[in-house]
Amino acid sequence: MRRLSLTSFLSLSATLHAATAAQSPCRCLYGDPCWPSQSEFAHLATQVSQPLIHPEPPGKPCYTSANTYECVEVTNGWNDGNWRANQTGSMQSPNFETFTFPNGTVEECLLNTTLAVPCGQGSVSAIGVDARSVGDIQAAVKFAAEHNLRVVVKNTGHDYCGRSAARGSFLVWTHNLKNITVHPSFTPAGAPTNETFEHAITLGAGVQWHEAYAAANASGRTLSAVHPTAAR
Ligand SMILES: *[C@@H]1O[C@H](CO)[C@@H](O)[C@H](O)[C@H]1NC(C)=O
Ligand SMILES: *[C@@H]1O[C@H](CO)[C@@H](O)[C@H](O)[C@H]1NC(C)=O
Ligand SMILES: *[C@@H]1O[C@H](CO)[C@@H](O)[C@H](O)[C@H]1NC(C)=O
Ligand SMILES: *[C@@H]1O[C@H](CO)[C@@H](O)[C@H](O)[C@H]1NC(C)=O
Ligand SMILES: *[C@@H]1O[C@H](CO)[C@@H](O)[C@H](O)[C@H]1NC(C)=O
Ligand SMILES: *[C@@H]1O[C@H](CO)[C@@H](O)[C@H](O)[C@H]1NC(C)=O
Repeated sequence: MRRLSLTSFLSLSATLHAATAAQSPCRCLYGDPCWPSQSEFAHLATQVSQPLIHPEPPGKPCYTSANTYECVEVTNGWNDGNWRANQTGSMQSPNFETFTFPNGTVEECLLNTTLAVPCGQGSVSAIGVDARSVGDIQAAVKFAAEHNLRVVVKNTGHDYCGRSAARGSFLVWTHNLKNITVHPSFTPAGAPTNETFEHAITLGAGVQWHEAYAAANASGRTLSAVHPTAAR
C-alpha cells in the first residue's frame, strides 16, 4: 500500500475564530436576556439547509420511562463511541456533558435514573445548526457573531480539552460534512506546480477515521497521518 497525502482537515472551523463580535466581553448564553428570540432563530432556520437542532444530554429519554424504545437505544449505545458520535448532544466522555457551578453543584444527566438526580442540560449546547455545506457554516457563524454567542464546533464529541461542549452555547455540528474526494494528483491552491502530490484525499470535517481508511483502501491506498484535532 502506498500512502495518500492528507490535504485538508477542519478548514471550515478555522473561519470561526475570526468571527467574534466586538460587543460585550462576555458571550451571550442561553437563558440570558440577550439570547436571540424565537423569531430570530426562525429566520436563521430559513438560511440553512436543515432544521435547527436542539441537542440534549444522551441520557434524557430515560427520564421519561426506562421502557421506551428511545431509552433502550440509549442504554445500548451508552458505551459505543460511534453511537455517541451520532448524537448532537453526546460527548465521547460523559464528564464533558456535565457542568459544575461555582458552588460545586454538578448539573448532569446520569444514565442511572434511580439515583434521583434530575436530568440537567449541563454543558450540552442549547441549539445549533446541522451543517451540510459551506453556506450552512457561513450562516451559522454570521448569526453567532451578530448575537455574540458562544460557538461550539462538534463532529464526534471527542475533543479531550472539552471544546465539543459549552454551557449555553450555539452548536455548529459538522458531523454530517462527510464528503470524501480522492485526487490522483493534487496541487494545493497557490502552490507552485512542482509542489504537486501524486495522490491526495480531501475529507469533510465530519469524516471519521474508519470512513477515511475505507475510502483510501477502496482506491488501493492507505492513510498514515493523524492530526490530534481531527476527531473533534
Ligand atoms: C451512526 O449513523 C450512521 C449514519 O446514519 C449509521 O450508518 C450508523 O450505523 C450509526 N452508528 C451507530 C453506532 O449508531
Ligand atoms: C449552586 O448554584 C446553582 C446555580 O446557581 C443553584 O441552582 C444551586 O441550588 C446551588 N446549590 C447549592 C447547594 O447552593
Ligand atoms: C443505580 O443506582 C442504584 C442506587 O445507587 C444502584 O443500586 C444500582 O446498582 C445502579 N444501577 C446501575 C445500572 O449502575
Ligand atoms: C460535497 O460534494 C458534492 C459533490 O461533489 C458537492 O456538490 C458539495 O458541495 C460538497 N459539499 C461540501 C460541503 O463540500
Ligand atoms: C519547487 O521549486 C522551487 C523553486 O525552484 C524549489 O525551491 C522547491 O524545492 C521545488 N519543490 C520540489 C518539491 O521540487
Ligand atoms: C481493502 O480493499 C481490499 C480490495 O478491495 C479488500 O479486499 C479489503 O477487504 C479492504 N479492507 C478493508 C479494511 O476495508
